[in-house]
Amino acid sequence: MNPVLLTILFSIVLAEKSPRLKFTVQEPARFHFMKPENYMTVYHQQGSDVLYVGGQAVIYMITFTQGVQDTSITIMADEGAKETCLARSVHLQLECDNFITVIEKVNDTFVVCGTNAGSPKCWLLVNKTVLTHLPDDGQRTSASDISPSFPSQRSVSLSTDGSLYSALSAVAKHPGSIHRTYSSNKLLKTESKWLLNPQFAGAAVIPATQKYNEEIYFFFSEINKTASLDEERYRARIGRICMSDEGGIKTVLPDSWTTFMKARVMCGTASTPQQYNNIRRAFVLASQHRTGVMYGLFSNVWDTTVVCAYSIEEIDQAFAKSRLKGHTSPLTGHRPGMCASKNNTAALNPKTLGVIKDHPEIEEVIWPVGGAPLDLPTVDHFTHVVADTVLAVNEEHYSVIYLGTEQGKVLKVLHTNEEAFIISQYSLFHNEGPIINMAIDSQKGHLYVGTAMEIQRLKLADCSRYGVSCRECILSRDPYCGWDLAKKKCLAIPTNYNITTGGFIQGLDQSNASVCGDTAAQKTPSTFPKEVQVEKDGPVLLPCPVNSYHATYVWEKDNCVKRYPCTITGSSCVLASTPELPLKEGVFRCMAMESGLKKEVVSYRLVINAGTLPTSPASTLGLSLLLAVASLWLL
Ligand SMILES: *[C@@H]1O[C@H](CO)[C@@H](O)[C@H](O)[C@H]1NC(C)=O
Ligand SMILES: *[C@@H]1O[C@H](CO)[C@@H](O)[C@H](O)[C@H]1NC(C)=O
Ligand SMILES: *[C@@H]1O[C@H](CO)[C@@H](O)[C@H](O)[C@H]1NC(C)=O
Ligand SMILES: *[C@@H]1O[C@H](CO)[C@@H](O)[C@H](O)[C@H]1NC(C)=O
Ligand SMILES: *[C@@H]1O[C@H](CO)[C@@H](O)[C@H](O)[C@H]1NC(C)=O
Ligand SMILES: *[C@@H]1O[C@H](CO)[C@@H](O)[C@H](O)[C@H]1NC(C)=O
Repeated sequence: MNPVLLTILFSIVLAEKSPRLKFTVQEPARFHFMKPENYMTVYHQQGSDVLYVGGQAVIYMITFTQGVQDTSITIMADEGAKETCLARSVHLQLECDNFITVIEKVNDTFVVCGTNAGSPKCWLLVNKTVLTHLPDDGQRTSASDISPSFPSQRSVSLSTDGSLYSALSAVAKHPGSIHRTYSSNKLLKTESKWLLNPQFAGAAVIPATQKYNEEIYFFFSEINKTASLDEERYRARIGRICMSDEGGIKTVLPDSWTTFMKARVMCGTASTPQQYNNIRRAFVLASQHRTGVMYGLFSNVWDTTVVCAYSIEEIDQAFAKSRLKGHTSPLTGHRPGMCASKNNTAALNPKTLGVIKDHPEIEEVIWPVGGAPLDLPTVDHFTHVVADTVLAVNEEHYSVIYLGTEQGKVLKVLHTNEEAFIISQYSLFHNEGPIINMAIDSQKGHLYVGTAMEIQRLKLADCSRYGVSCRECILSRDPYCGWDLAKKKCLAIPTNYNITTGGFIQGLDQSNASVCGDTAAQKTPSTFPKEVQVEKDGPVLLPCPVNSYHATYVWEKDNCVKRYPCTITGSSCVLASTPELPLKEGVFRCMAMESGLKKEVVSYRLVINAGTLPTSPASTLGLSLLLAVASLWLL
């Protein structure tokens, strides 16, 4: 193959993997912390403008409206606990404070728990300001079943249906656990042998049409500490319990789950040894009918991060049908571990309970949809994932994934059966710290993004950034946005959109703007050339602003007599004169080509200033400065 062609093909493949658009958000709706909050827990209720953030000895209540307002509540660690902590915990001195680890609304009350310098404690948050200490009610609920003792011990909490579910990762003396606390149902826990040094990554409710079938999935990695160096220490897991579980009988599992099962989750291509075994985050998009998708963020031993998608239906089927590991005799009667309605006595048969107590792991292994991780750039180190389903004008649902990165960026990705298309990349922060938390509000259409220093809120339907033409709107492939045929604008699809009435067009399945109509698509409006005067033999740099990183940019001189390629540096495709390629006087036009369409972006008329003023400003300017000056002309 022709090497030039090969290079072009290669660069197109690379380009497709990169974000199509790059935005820098300068809007002021941004909250700054007074001190860095390196550990953070957030609570956000769908449809609300308030974000609760738990930090070090403080809860921030941040209201995003026109501006940003905040109030905060200080919750100090007990003095005694702090002294004991400082004396005992030599390696964790910096963690001897009250880090807020849980903020959850249970029924209608806010439960807040913190590490309290190594001896966890819970409070009730009343009327948004008053805190009353929630005492441990004897043997029933203990704060140390809900909050870790130190913030570096990761925990996950989830409140649903009037109960609080808490998962604590394993640390030195703590084996890790999943508890139900603050509930009118029986308080339950895991048996310690069910979990092998779990490190929790997330939890989600899996709805069901029948109430007793509702489940909670927990996502975690298990670590085998005795595995040798060349063996894989991590195993990614899904653990699940039924919300209707009321525990076992006096002799078997009296205070433990009777419906705990776990499965191994793989992220990688089945035929290759390259697997990502450590699950770091997870997010579930589920519907009542056991359909939906789970997105997991995984890493390997080199700390490369990838995203895998799983079918909830497949996971559900595996838990319902797979053989149990280590259990050979046939399963008869009520299947051990399945959700059961209250009157189902077979579920509490001692033999049935004994099977799930000793064999909670299923044999079947869960593989990602498409058999591989999503095709995303591996240069980005992902730290967080959330997702949303969007109803498009063709009445299909589309998944959009939001990925936070180590560099404080957010990638917005359209995930279809065929591909992962990176709609855009957002730069949101002054300081490029890693994104440590995200919350999505599908109802109101907002994404909350937090670093240790700042919190920013972003609109999910951010349609005005896509430009003014139908073509730009359609090529964005953003399912939240469409071209309004009447208003001739790129707008958010209204929530009460009526497909019969129509009025909006989209093109989500491929990058193809033909729906805009031939005339609109083919017409390439030419720009008026700006005059650029340069010295003879002086440096010449002509910038062309890059709108789409999936387009190829090329410069044409004097209506295509000659073509010059350019390479994208930063947000510009710069045409520079080189000894091999001296630029002569004439009109230079920068053309962008994408999805078979050509568009003129900018044009310059180059005029050579033959030996006039010896110290004209341009000749004394450095190359980069000249470039900056040139960019200014574009504004
Ligand atoms: C909370 O506010 C309501 C109404 O403002 C008041 O009636 C109630 O007594 C307050 N509760 C507490 C615990 O202060
Ligand atoms: C939550 O509300 C339900 C029904 O209103 C009640 O039965 C239950 O006890 C409440 N739970 C807690 C923890 O207050
Ligand atoms: C941990 O790894 C060792 C060495 O490969 C193996 O013998 C042991 O069975 C593993 N433990 C578990 C619980 O898988
Ligand atoms: C349990 O009760 C439900 C209705 O509440 C009924 O549909 C079901 O058949 C009952 N199951 C058994 C095993 O009795
Ligand atoms: C959509 O518009 C059609 C025609 O105007 C109307 O008959 C139909 O009831 C509308 N559907 C909804 C869900 O509003
Ligand atoms: C775009 O879609 C139209 C109609 O579906 C098709 O005819 C055309 O070939 C497509 N163009 C590209 C570049 O795929």
